[in-house]
Amino acid sequence: MEADLLILRDEILAHRGCGFEPCETAARMVPGEGNPAAPLMFVGEAPGATEDSLGRPFVGRAGRLLDELIGEAGLVREDVWITNVVKARPPKNRDPKAPEVAHCMPWLERELAIIRPRLVVPLGRHALKHFAPEAKIGEVHGRVLEAGGRRLFPLYHPAAAMYNQTLKATLFEDARALGARLLDPEFV
Ligand code: URA
Repeated sequence: MEADLLILRDEILAHRGCGFEPCETAARMVPGEGNPAAPLMFVGEAPGATEDSLGRPFVGRAGRLLDELIGEAGLVREDVWITNVVKARPPKNRDPKAPEVAHCMPWLERELAIIRPRLVVPLGRHALKHFAPEAKIGEVHGRVLEAGGRRLFPLYHPAAAMYNQTLKATLFEDARALGARLLDPEFV
């Protein structure tokens, strides 16, 4: 399993020349990272400026909030897997376009197939759209949602909560609910 993840990581890091704007303009590709036996996989939208310069997902301001949320769920960053739908920073942090998402999707599918997390945690509406196209983040955040043969636990994107105290409080409440769900003996 770990060997498969290393192969995948090297493949993403070596990726060049697809012609899609993020892959052409970003400083580097940003593969997922974390515990190969993770019960949770957090899936963000795309790397931002700090992630682009350090080559790791969620290591900027939104990442620090994500670390706190993981703590609120009773875990540490090293327990989980953290990745993005799109593996290169779009110019000026614009939203990824549908063809760019489609281009990066096989990598995310492989991460999911190798790690097989108990719960996938899409962060924000862009990540959620991939897993449950009809779902609205405002309606499904903070609870288990079965979609496309997967068990999801959608959360608001930490970046959206950085300047919105109400959203931030909701996010922390949802993270505690996520932790409780993981401890539930009925929950496989
Ligand atoms: N926002 C994301 O969606 N992903 C990151 O890695 C950082 C910020």
